[in-house]
This record gives sequence, structure tokens and C-alpha cells, in this order.
Amino acid sequence: MIQITAEQPRYTEDIEYLLDTVFGADRRSKAVYALREGIAPIDDLCHVALIDGELHGSIRYWPARAVHAGRGRHADLLLLGPLAVDPVFQGAGIGRALVEHSLVLAGRRGHRAAVLVGDPAYYGRFGFERSGARDLRLPGETDQERVLLREIVRGAAAECAGTLVRAPTEHPVSVLAEPAVSVPPGTTPSSGRRAPEGGRQAPEEGMSARRA
Ligand SMILES: CC(C)(COP(=O)(O)OP(=O)(O)OC[C@H]1O[C@@H](n2cnc3c(N)ncnc32)[C@H](O)[C@@H]1OP(=O)(O)O)[C@@H](O)C(=O)NCCC(=O)NCCS
Repeated sequence: MIQITAEQPRYTEDIEYLLDTVFGADRRSKAVYALREGIAPIDDLCHVALIDGELHGSIRYWPARAVHAGRGRHADLLLLGPLAVDPVFQGAGIGRALVEHSLVLAGRRGHRAAVLVGDPAYYGRFGFERSGARDLRLPGETDQERVLLREIVRGAAAECAGTLVRAPTEHPVSVLAEPAVSVPPGTTPSSGRRAPEGGRQAPEEGMSARRA
């Protein structure tokens, strides 16, 4: 059984290992990481996927801001990512469960929109669209077509124009205790899955096996 539960400090090392496995150790050189520098993630939206108590998936959220100098306005929004699933368990519904569960929570907590840098072919199924991010620019991103936005509150995309910047560091971080969510297993781990654009080819063995 796959369990989706809130991220805890004890998972940090396994999450970093998962992210290195999936994106490569040079992942921090990506433009989007500049938005996370010195900023705490939004704890109550960050989740992990556990199978038999072992970590096989992670989703994190950060505060970000869209600043439109011309209009003299800014809008705060969520930055989703990284999202990563252990290659052995990709295609089993873990990514979907992590995204859908956390977006429901985001709506309940009053967030208005979420932005990410990722593959439209995957994130489109969750409502992330290039069209919503047309007026947003992520400095340093070589492929702005991968900057996608999803409205959480209808009409919020119109507020999200200008340059994406780091959120102010005084962003409040709260930790909420919540019960774990159990997810019925989806398809069995498949070997025929697509490698995400910009992502790495799935290794043959899972993380746990490689660490053992
Ligand atoms: C992308 C990722 C998070 C998806 O998680 P997952 O648990 O494997 O995905 P799910 O099981 O929820 O969904 C599987 C579906 O997504 C599809 N899919 C996976 N990656 C895709 C991609 N890059 N483009 C289009 N579709 C993709 C699968 O083909 C499958 O389709 P189906 O439901 O029609 O069979 C995971 O494969 C992963 O960690 N990839 C590498 C890291 C990455 O790219 N992260 C996102 C950028 S922040």
C-alpha cells in the first residue's frame, strides 16, 4: 500500500537521495533553484510517498512571487517542485497521488495559483497550462515553454504576471499534523514508461535496492 503523508525532517536525507537519483546531482544548477535559495519550503504542503515505510516519492512546494514592475503590482503564488518518484515505482500512480492530494490542501489553505517548470505532457493532466503562465518569466530558464501555471482560484492567472522572484523570507511556515492518506496501488511498476523531458533515464534498480 502506498501512503501519502506529510514530509518530516527524518525523511530529508532520503528525499535528497531520491532527487539526486532522478534529476542528477547537478540539479541545483537549474534556474528554478534560484527561487528556492534561502527560502523554507511550505511544510504543510510538502509530502512523501511511503511503501512499507520506505520513501519512494516526494513533492515540495515553496512560496514565490510574480512581480510586475510596469503595473507596480505583485502576486504571491506557489512554486511546485521538485516532484520525484523512485524510477522503480514510476507509473504506479504515486506522482498523481502526490500532486492531487497536495493541490487539494493548497486550495483549502487559501493559495490561489501554482507554478512549476516541467513537462506539459505530464502536468497538463492536473490543469497546469502554458497559457496561464504566458505573462510570467522565470529569469535564467532556457525553456520558458516549460513554465506552467495552474489556477487554484479561478481567475488567479491574470494576477500572475511579470517576473518570478523569490518570496520574501518572512513567509510564515506552519507545520500541521495530518493523518496519512492511503492510495490503492495503480498499475504495477512498468518498464515501458516514458522518460520525462529533461529528466534522467530510469535506472534498472530502485533506490532502496541501490542503497542496500
Ligand atoms: C514525472 C513523475 C513525477 C511522474 O510520477 P509517476 O508516479 O511515475 O506518474 P503517475 O503514475 O502518477 O502517472 C503515470 C502517467 O504519467 C505518464 N508520464 C510520466 N512521465 C511523463 C512525461 N514526462 N510526459 C508525459 N507523460 C508522462 C505515464 O506515461 C503515465 O501515463 P498513463 O497514466 O496514461 O499510463 C515521475 O515519473 C518522475 O519522478 N520522473 C522524473 C522526475 C520528473 O520529471 N519530475 C517532474 C519535474 S519537477
